[in-house]
Amino acid sequence: MSKRRILVTSALPNANGSIHLGHLMEHIQTDIWVRFQRLKGHQCIYVCADDTHGTATMLKAEELKITPEEFITRIQAEHELDFQDFLISHDNYYSTHSEENQSYSSLIYNRLKEADQINVKSVDQLFDPEKELFLADRFIVGACPKCKAEGQYGDNCEACGATYDATDLINPISKISGAKPVLKESTHFFFSLSNFSDYLREWTRSGTLQEQVANKLAEWLDAGLHDWDISRDAPYFGFEIPGEPDKFFYVWLDAPIGYMASFQNHCDQTENLDFDDFWSSDSECEVHHFIGKDIINFHALFWPAMLITSGFRTPTKIHAHGFVTVDGQKMSKSRGTFINARTYLDFLQPEYLRYYFAAKLNGSVDDLDINLDDFIQRVNSDLVGKVVNIASRCAGFINKQFDGKLAAQTSNHLIDEFAGQQFDIASHYENGDYGKAIREIMAMADKANQFIAENKPWALIKDDGNRDLVQQICSDGINLFRIIITYLKPVLPDLASNTETFLNISPLHWNSLDINLLNHQINRFKPLIVRVEGKTVAAMIEAGRESTAVDNEEAIEDSDPIAGEIEFDDFAKVDLRVARITNAEHVEGADKLLKLTLDIGTGQRTVFAGIKAAYKPDDLIGRLTVMVANLKARKMKFGLSEGMVLAAGPGGKEIYLLEPDDGSEPGMKVT
Ligand code: 2FM
Ligand code: ZN
Repeated sequence: MSKRRILVTSALPNANGSIHLGHLMEHIQTDIWVRFQRLKGHQCIYVCADDTHGTATMLKAEELKITPEEFITRIQAEHELDFQDFLISHDNYYSTHSEENQSYSSLIYNRLKEADQINVKSVDQLFDPEKELFLADRFIVGACPKCKAEGQYGDNCEACGATYDATDLINPISKISGAKPVLKESTHFFFSLSNFSDYLREWTRSGTLQEQVANKLAEWLDAGLHDWDISRDAPYFGFEIPGEPDKFFYVWLDAPIGYMASFQNHCDQTENLDFDDFWSSDSECEVHHFIGKDIINFHALFWPAMLITSGFRTPTKIHAHGFVTVDGQKMSKSRGTFINARTYLDFLQPEYLRYYFAAKLNGSVDDLDINLDDFIQRVNSDLVGKVVNIASRCAGFINKQFDGKLAAQTSNHLIDEFAGQQFDIASHYENGDYGKAIREIMAMADKANQFIAENKPWALIKDDGNRDLVQQICSDGINLFRIIITYLKPVLPDLASNTETFLNISPLHWNSLDINLLNHQINRFKPLIVRVEGKTVAAMIEAGRESTAVDNEEAIEDSDPIAGEIEFDDFAKVDLRVARITNAEHVEGADKLLKLTLDIGTGQRTVFAGIKAAYKPDDLIGRLTVMVANLKARKMKFGLSEGMVLAAGPGGKEIYLLEPDDGSEPGMKVT
């Protein structure tokens, strides 16, 4: 087997929000592929970074009264820990706000310019006269020019699906300051993507993309490519364009270059690893990008066109995946299914999720649904009931009856049969069809359990004359278990490592599949996995509801329709009271929360409210608002919250506390 040299990346997570199930699906998918390649003996380097630039980072830092640099450093540390705890084996996790990235971004830009692929145009754009910045579409809201629905963003209408220019919105306002935007002219730099249509038509059909994806791109290519605006005006958190003061690279220009920068940074810390081996135009190494289907245009159109023009190689393959849904619906903060990495880890083992994703990933761009009942059932029935059960059924006899010594030979055709499936399993992993690999592996586990059940070592051991036979059956069982764990090792690295300790062996490897453990001393068996309890999953969902309701950046829009109907009796249970805010203060470590002390006539209540972006604490003191007074107190990360204040608005700065009329008094019932 010739040793492949492979560089792998996952999409760079945005630096303005926490890692959630969507990121985890992608990183777990990538990590399984990477670990599989390493298990096969290939050189496989996995790099990633935080995607730090853009207006959103700048505003978020401003809101927190820290510099963007401080903000991204803080977030990067959080992201790195989350990934580490999910056993993601990045070789380097870096930042797009780095010297290496600035240097490669400038180099690539200069080469595009030298190749005459940059053109300069004057553009009229909406400008916030108060904040003095140009507004990206997502920072402008107004009424849809087509259906007149209020509160729509500057690019498309969520109510009727119309797409339009921000300048077409009726009564637009800046989401940042609330000011009415004005049109302002500015010079922008464009990459001449339209010159690359023929090249991209060929490149997208050259085996670099899944067929579904190539078909989608063919539609875009047929519709005609537009030149791509790669510049943004100051103020902008990013890299200044060389020779163009106050003009910055658009975040999407330097983001993919961040893959190169992270790899360069890794090369600089690693002996015998050369950047050019992987990125020169005649490279024989492979480069694989794992991404979501929503960012295919950046990776399969702009990126190869930029690379080919600037003298670098293009990716070997782009592995695109779909979105994560939970119980058949988009992840939702109100349903508690917008689950952050840390919330999950507070309740559950990372390998449960790794296994569940593996069982459901099939290498397509279809969305992946996490059905919570199915999650519990699969983990318990497959990992606990099938896989680990093989070892726990056999190990007791070997440990107690034979001093931990395995038999001197194998005597079961299943051992060869299982090892013989390695080519099939390998091709499923290689193709990203982990679900198929898992189905084959679980069929093996069924067979192994059946073999033990049919041979009944627990009955045989009662007769001393059967001792050798019992040792043989259990040793065979252990060898079957060893093969199964080797196959599962890319998915369950901790379980594999604990198995290696139990079996008293050096790390399992694809090459060791055929090497049986004979006459070998194993260690005492300790439980390798525990069952998932339904109540633990329920508690995680509840915690997700609480933490995302207050602490989470709105990484995915959560435009729930009107919730299901409730009976009048349900409504009547809610005790709404007028409350006076007697104190309001910042909460250390919380991005969105303020701690409010409320007087409701009969006493004081402490409530944590996610309104920090909208109000300064001092402006709240003395004001009246409305609270749910009989909401069960909830333990939150920062303390006990004894109720909830009512507010309305899309979120962020636009949250408006409900204010009763001035004649109201604390404690009055709101009817
Ligand atoms: O969509 C996103 O979350 C981007 N931050 C992904 C960037 S991937 C790469 F191009 F940097
Ligand atoms: Zn509309």
